[in-house]
Amino acid sequence: MLANCEKINFFSGEEIPLEMHKARMVQRIFLPTAERRLEVLKEGGFNTFLLPNREVFLDMLTDSGVNAMSEAQYAAMMLADDSYAGSQTFYRLAETLGELFGTKYFLPAHQGRACENILANAYVGEGRVTIMNYHFTTTKAHITRLGGRVLEALADDALESASDNPFKGNFDLGKLEKMVAEAGVDNVAFVRLEAGTNLIGGQPVSMANMRAVSAFCRKRGLLLVFDASLLADNLYFIKTREAAEAHRSLAEIVLEIGSLMDISYFSGRKLGCARGGGLITSSAEHYEKMRGLVTLYEGFLTYGGMSVREMEAMNVGLKETLDFQVINQTPIFVAALGRELVARGLPVITPFGGLGCHVDAGAFLAHVPQEQYPAGALAAAVYLTGGIRGMERGTLSEQRGPDGRETMAQMELVRLAVPKRVFTLSQLKFVADRLAWLHKNRELVGGLEFEEEPESLRFFFGRLRPKGDWPERLLERFLRDMPSGV
Ligand SMILES: Cc1ncc(COP(=O)(O)O)c(C=O)c1O
Repeated sequence: MLANCEKINFFSGEEIPLEMHKARMVQRIFLPTAERRLEVLKEGGFNTFLLPNREVFLDMLTDSGVNAMSEAQYAAMMLADDSYAGSQTFYRLAETLGELFGTKYFLPAHQGRACENILANAYVGEGRVTIMNYHFTTTKAHITRLGGRVLEALADDALESASDNPFKGNFDLGKLEKMVAEAGVDNVAFVRLEAGTNLIGGQPVSMANMRAVSAFCRKRGLLLVFDASLLADNLYFIKTREAAEAHRSLAEIVLEIGSLMDISYFSGRKLGCARGGGLITSSAEHYEKMRGLVTLYEGFLTYGGMSVREMEAMNVGLKETLDFQVINQTPIFVAALGRELVARGLPVITPFGGLGCHVDAGAFLAHVPQEQYPAGALAAAVYLTGGIRGMERGTLSEQRGPDGRETMAQMELVRLAVPKRVFTLSQLKFVADRLAWLHKNRELVGGLEFEEEPESLRFFFGRLRPKGDWPERLLERFLRDMPSGV
């Protein structure tokens, strides 16, 4: 019997997340001085997506495509079969997905949003409605681009930053029913259930809720689409927060989830810790409807725009998702960072979710009006303070309405992603220390405004400028307290 690291007690009584792996290949990182960090911010238009990684000390932008891979994944990459059509690599990956989810068909795609493009082209149309627990940026952009409408059916308390609700990602079935009745069943393109709900802080969906949503959709003949990109973290929370599921194996749970959904898709940059994605279904009808779109947008059906080496790595990574000691690593490190921040009085989304630690920028910078993008300003200030790159998940990540008006986000968050098995505890302690300093000096941080605003997915390339000289004043205070500049 092998030990579960969460059951290993420290004699001191301290709650310390324990790594169940060792690092055998590492990447050197550098911490630029605070003066340099301000220059870099200016060059990057105060947008953390535009910072060159060589100027970043701890890259907590995302877990997408940057999780550590296992030695077995690297070894598998050597076995890739790169035939254009019918490669053995494809069949191996398709077989694994079939075994895990119990589905019959696999359509490969180059990443998660490529699957969303295919789904939107196949099912969305002018005025058709898609109902989800919550939207994700790229999902919404694909749907609205084709004239579709996105509705959200989360429970009211899901958007409270501090809560005891263990499954904030759950659908509110009452709201779902009302939305379907208002739209009319025939006008609903599909219902989309997102595991590990990204934009509200990596919050999970319970097994009981998945069953209820599936039964609801089946009864009315509604298509149910599952975004499994953040399934690994969600599985951890099902096992640890849902008493009725604690005794079941991860394999049993995944198989049941697969049986509840009509179509599932995933970003392999997250699920499977490689770079790629795909759609799975047991329906020949849905498979045929989407197949032509794969060859049109992605590539031939047996690689879908992916490198075969990545497909081999994904194959192994997906199997490793059934190892509890692998999938627990992000949640236990997110919780460790969250505890450090809460202990220092910082506003953090609770319960702690998967994917990363989410700081409530609306509360952190309560003096910055929402039109001045508090979460964007906080992400810039966090970089200036510690060379730490987080991601704005607030109003900047929204898209303007058709009339050009700003859509105010329901939550202003800065996400500090904790990619799987990448950071050490001392690095996370550094993050907590720098954020605590910033919190103490938060009144110095001001807002941002656009200098260049792209029309679509503006958060990726938009350039901003500070309102006033707050970055210079923050730098001055930092150098007063930390004269070495680091
Ligand atoms: C829940 C969710 N769905 C879809 C995507 C899109 O995946 P990709 O980045 O591979 O295009 C992401 C990426 O972050 C995600 O978190």
